Amino acid sequence: MTTLPLADRRNNQYLIPAALISLLFIASLRIVLENVKNSHHSRAFFWQTGGGYRVVRRPVSVSNDEIIETGCDIFEGKWVWDNVSHPLYTEESCPLLVKQVTCQKNGRPDSYYQNWKWQPHGCNLPRFNGLKLLEILRDKRLMFVGDSVQRSMFDSMVCLVQSVIPEGKKSLKRVPPRKIFRAEEYNASIEFYWAPFLVESISDHATNHTVLKRLVRLDSIHNHSKQWEGVDILVFESYVWWMYKPTINATYGNLKNVQEYDVTKAYRIAMETWGNWIETSINTHDQKVFFMTMSPTHLW
Ligand SMILES: *[C@@H]1O[C@H](CO)[C@@H](O)[C@H](O)[C@H]1NC(C)=O
Ligand SMILES: *[C@@H]1O[C@H](CO)[C@@H](O)[C@H](O)[C@H]1NC(C)=O
Ligand SMILES: *[C@@H]1O[C@H](CO)[C@@H](O)[C@H](O)[C@H]1NC(C)=O
Ligand SMILES: *[C@@H]1O[C@H](CO)[C@@H](O)[C@H](O)[C@H]1NC(C)=O
Ligand SMILES: *[C@@H]1O[C@H](CO)[C@@H](O)[C@H](O)[C@H]1NC(C)=O
Repeated sequence: MTTLPLADRRNNQYLIPAALISLLFIASLRIVLENVKNSHHSRAFFWQTGGGYRVVRRPVSVSNDEIIETGCDIFEGKWVWDNVSHPLYTEESCPLLVKQVTCQKNGRPDSYYQNWKWQPHGCNLPRFNGLKLLEILRDKRLMFVGDSVQRSMFDSMVCLVQSVIPEGKKSLKRVPPRKIFRAEEYNASIEFYWAPFLVESISDHATNHTVLKRLVRLDSIHNHSKQWEGVDILVFESYVWWMYKPTINATYGNLKNVQEYDVTKAYRIAMETWGNWIETSINTHDQKVFFMTMSPTHLW
């Protein structure tokens, strides 16, 4: 990634990945769970088959660690501290991380924040397994769309899977506004697409954009959405709406007619633009869409 302008660098260095990794984990769990549900078995689990995994009926001898019980609401739960099975990766084990998102290299003295694990009330989750995820993503594209919070999600997802792929069989390319991680043997890609407000804005340049001066085009999404078409799994997020002021400059229709909106009102209109695109362009049979509504406060 190229260097960010100073203002953005200053603000982004506080977008600490810890809480984000956790959110990402939920997102990836959801993907795993959805795929398990789609298997039409009452109790499903992943069965290892020579490096790959497939979902089959539960034989008698399978360990409980491999099972997500049908009907378990994985979204009801709490964070528990677990320094035995977590972290799932470290900064050292993931050479693809840029310095901006490396807490340890940037001098954070403690490491406890890496040991949190999501514990649903009603069941246990299988340990994250990169090979399982890659098998699910075979011949597919998974794309994270959003701002720097989402970029951290992408980074985390890449770190979670990259260590199980041999050298030479994986690549990371920066093609602004996209970052593309490829797992060649799976014909799978995990991508990030920079669209900080989801709809179009003057902040859409991936590396050269203002943070303090915002201008959002509430009714325009096409410049972005044409590059989201056909993606198998889309994960959307936008935090920047809530970053500074309770008002934001935006246009609707005529680009010369700039108005100051309450952020909540502008956000609602932008979400309608986004929702209309989803409704007209997503094939719910083949594609999955996730939307991350909230981010914890993370500006320090
Ligand atoms: C986990 O934390 C406990 C203290 O809570 C410590 O005694 C133990 O050595 C730690 N284990 C690992 C693997 O870091
Ligand atoms: C590779 O994956 C893409 C989707 O990302 C798909 O369109 C294409 O058909 C796949 N190629 C093969 C050979 O299966
Ligand atoms: C969208 O793309 C068109 C054509 O390239 C360009 O004129 C327009 O300025 C773009 N919109 C934004 C917000 O960048
Ligand atoms: C960044 O964008 C500004 C405003 O569009 C422009 O004046 C400046 O030349 C750009 N800087 C670089 C390095 O591209
Ligand atoms: C909106 O734009 C005007 C004119 O550039 C500026 O004075 C005002 O501070 C902007 N409002 C916000 C919330 O950025």
